[in-house]
Amino acid sequence: MIKRFLPILILGYSTLTCAQERNGKTVDSHIDSLLSVMTLEEKIGQMTLYTSGWDVTGPTLNENYKEDLKAGKVGALFNAHTVKYNSDLQRMAVEETRLGIPLLFGYDVIHGHRTIFPLPLAEASSWNLDLIKETARLSAKEAAASGLNWTFNPMVDIARDPRWGRIAEGSGEDTYLGSLIAKAKVEGYQGDDLSDPFTVLACVKHFAAYGASQAGRDYHTVDMSDRVLRETYLPPYKAAIDAGAATVMTSFNELHGVPASGSRYLMTEILREEWRFKGFVVTDYTSINEMVPHGVVANEKEAADLALNAGVDMDMQGGVYNDHLATLVNEGKVSEKQVDEAVRRILEMKWRLGLFKDPYRYLDEKRELQVLFSKELMDHALVSARESIVLLKNEPYNNKKLLPIANDVKSIALIGPLGDNQIDMLGTWHASGDANKVVTVLQGLKEAFPKAKITYTKGADFMGSDKSGFEEATKNARAADLVIMAVGENHQQSGEAASRSGLDLPGVQQELVEAIYQTGKPIVALVMAGRPLTIGWMDENIPAIVNTWHLGTMAGKAIAEVLAGKYNPSGKLTITFPRNVGQIPIYYSMKNTGRPFDADSKYTSKYLDVSNEPLYPFGYGLSYTTFEYGEPKLSKIEIKEHENLTIEVMVKNTGEYEGQEVVQLYVRDLVGSVTRPVKELKGFEKISLKPGESKVVTFTINSDNLKFYTRDMSYRVEPGEFLITIGPNSAEGKTAQFTLK
Ligand code: BGC
Repeated sequence: MIKRFLPILILGYSTLTCAQERNGKTVDSHIDSLLSVMTLEEKIGQMTLYTSGWDVTGPTLNENYKEDLKAGKVGALFNAHTVKYNSDLQRMAVEETRLGIPLLFGYDVIHGHRTIFPLPLAEASSWNLDLIKETARLSAKEAAASGLNWTFNPMVDIARDPRWGRIAEGSGEDTYLGSLIAKAKVEGYQGDDLSDPFTVLACVKHFAAYGASQAGRDYHTVDMSDRVLRETYLPPYKAAIDAGAATVMTSFNELHGVPASGSRYLMTEILREEWRFKGFVVTDYTSINEMVPHGVVANEKEAADLALNAGVDMDMQGGVYNDHLATLVNEGKVSEKQVDEAVRRILEMKWRLGLFKDPYRYLDEKRELQVLFSKELMDHALVSARESIVLLKNEPYNNKKLLPIANDVKSIALIGPLGDNQIDMLGTWHASGDANKVVTVLQGLKEAFPKAKITYTKGADFMGSDKSGFEEATKNARAADLVIMAVGENHQQSGEAASRSGLDLPGVQQELVEAIYQTGKPIVALVMAGRPLTIGWMDENIPAIVNTWHLGTMAGKAIAEVLAGKYNPSGKLTITFPRNVGQIPIYYSMKNTGRPFDADSKYTSKYLDVSNEPLYPFGYGLSYTTFEYGEPKLSKIEIKEHENLTIEVMVKNTGEYEGQEVVQLYVRDLVGSVTRPVKELKGFEKISLKPGESKVVTFTINSDNLKFYTRDMSYRVEPGEFLITIGPNSAEGKTAQFTLK
């Protein structure tokens, strides 16, 4: 229904399309012609993103978004998906607005769209960049088939405080690994060419340093030195941008006293001037409005002024640009040129997606039916779930290891609120994941052990103090040869606005585990959560512990395969597991201090009531087999700047199962102009070895790997001595030393 605006529409959208096909002019000139016919209000409309009201993750400020859409006041929508739903909205934009500019459709496709893959923190434990990239590619494919063309991911915030619920959404505590994962995800979502209709725009978030919210409380203050910001927190965002990420999302937190959405330092100086970012910046939800309670502006008009001048192109859900930008332009507080620049960046992405050529290219019902939950997706969900599982403990019970579970096990008592549970396997931010498709642990076990008698008892809930289920659970435990406990968090106990001040098993689950322990039966504990939990008691008392996180659609099948030994676990933690909350922040790359720990000396850096060591260190994870590491062999012990050093290490499978090992290389700069971490990950390789087999793993180091922000904040390498550790995790390994001249 192209009504009275037809002439202008032809001038705008259609002129652009035809011209694109006819004479291959640059995108800039097409956007110029469009900008030349747009009113200020229409431009501001392109800078406005509203939720469709389908899924809501914050305040819904605009119930009348469809009216605004028809009035040309909306350039993008989020939380709208399925071809049918989005086709209607796209038609509205294309046929019922004056210029017919197509919409972007964004959504939080964090670890899958309908088919759900493991939580990002879980999948990071695979240390498998190809696998992670493939997850992103397939998530994009399924999302694109469902009418979406923009995902609000990857979330690359370095996070070192497991109280923060959003730790589940990222890759963990390490900058080096986090940067590689950020790159892999952007490449997976965006492919080589955004005009391929199976790709979507990536959005790197949350810029910046959101993961450092004080005390792990969500939306809380962040304050850190520029040194820490640049060395630890910024590199993953930079890696994503270098990989071509199309968009960046601001963060809710303040940094250096300025809320990110008002920070010119972040959005212009670092992002655009230093890093040459060419895409557009969107706010996180209503974060422009939130600058009022932050206390840096008196009202939303001032907030709009601050945000635009900081370099924020698109206002998510706040409606502040729509309400105030035109006035600000008229008052000369912001220039129309600034508005044009923001609009240009947004239109360029629409162009690159091919939306001007065909606004309906993501909206094909046949394609949607073919892609959703297709075999390719479901198979990968299983592969990825298996590789995300981390075996934390596997000690003998009556002289025999419980895992893998013997084939001829006669009876199993599965106990715990996650044992026959679908929705919670999906974890936080599971987009439009379909819980009905989830394979539960119970289903997985029945398939893996068809001859065993398997009982299931919930035993306890995730909240409250009801212990009435304990009796039946203990009865079933007593009657079985083996107990499997499925305990942890539900899908709402981690994620956004899900900070916790204690990290014990929630509800009465700890008491449930202790009650079952009293039966004397052998127990395998499955810990399923979106974050590290403080499971010290289990570590002391339960012989086998498997950290399975929230693994998504194929969770139960992957878990059962690991328990049955059909898949030998290979995951390694990318986040430190503390012994108690008081140890937080605790991460492997800490500083040495002037009084490093000494058990015999009181006045050294330590606690009276808990060790300095974590429960499980970064990089840690067991296998059903064992690996032996040889001594690292260095190609030379002295290198000059720009020279390569090669380090070789022989790794041997000394156990009885074929298995995979993540061989990790850490470096310590022994003396610097500023203090350096006791260890920094600088390389890793995941290898597969048959029993008895050995492989030589080779790492290369040069001055680029050794650079840091020196005392004067210049980023460079300093000559001196370096200690190398190669091992199975950040707390163990064989060392060697070299000198950089
Ligand atoms: C979250 C973002 C998310 C956005 C849109 C916000 O509350 O912080 O990560 O992308 O909502 O759903």
